[in-house]
Amino acid sequence: METSEAIKKRRSIRKYQDKPISKDIIEKLIDAARFAPSGMNSQPWHFIAIQDKTKLKQIAEMYAKARDKLKIYPQDTSFLEKTNIILVLSEKTPWAKVDCSFAIQNILLAATDIGLGSLCLGALMLPENIETLRTMCNIPDNLEIVMPIVIGFPDETPEPKPRKEVKEILDYNKF
Ligand SMILES: Cc1cc2nc3c(=O)[nH]c(=O)nc-3n(C[C@H](O)[C@H](O)[C@H](O)COP(=O)(O)O)c2cc1C
Repeated sequence: METSEAIKKRRSIRKYQDKPISKDIIEKLIDAARFAPSGMNSQPWHFIAIQDKTKLKQIAEMYAKARDKLKIYPQDTSFLEKTNIILVLSEKTPWAKVDCSFAIQNILLAATDIGLGSLCLGALMLPENIETLRTMCNIPDNLEIVMPIVIGFPDETPEPKPRKEVKEILDYNKF
């Protein structure tokens, strides 16, 4: 798939087939992630692929409570049990969050390229859930959780979400 096609075809997927995701697939995605640019080539990222069903169920329950609290993304959260979650972690270097964001986009585009669905799970990131995830996955104090990324075989093909037009967001030389 051409890069431009992957950029436009990627969607946030919230319905998945109950189909296992191999370590080969996970490693392909992380291989794409590691080619992202990073400040001074610091590569401050680490990744934990959560495949364990008990942990996925626990995360689905945490996510359900978080969404209820935040009053966003109303939906059944059991779809998470059919997926894997890649926790993107960062060292505390100057541009770590930006670096990790590039790595995340590489993961999302690589997933699209091989026919997988993906979803960023920002609503999970409440302080209490971050602490639980840290304990659950034995995350050391020097690393921060940047974003949980859901990966799986899609069971829906959503229409593209509306986008602002180029002329609405672009100025030349001054705002
Ligand atoms: C930082 C970030 C956090 C997000 N958190 C959630 C989330 O918790 N739950 C969810 O269903 N979608 C989440 N999304 C998906 C966005 O809602 C989605 O990207 C946006 O509506 C555009 O749709 P698209 O990704 O299909 O183009 C998140 C996306 C980003 C970039």
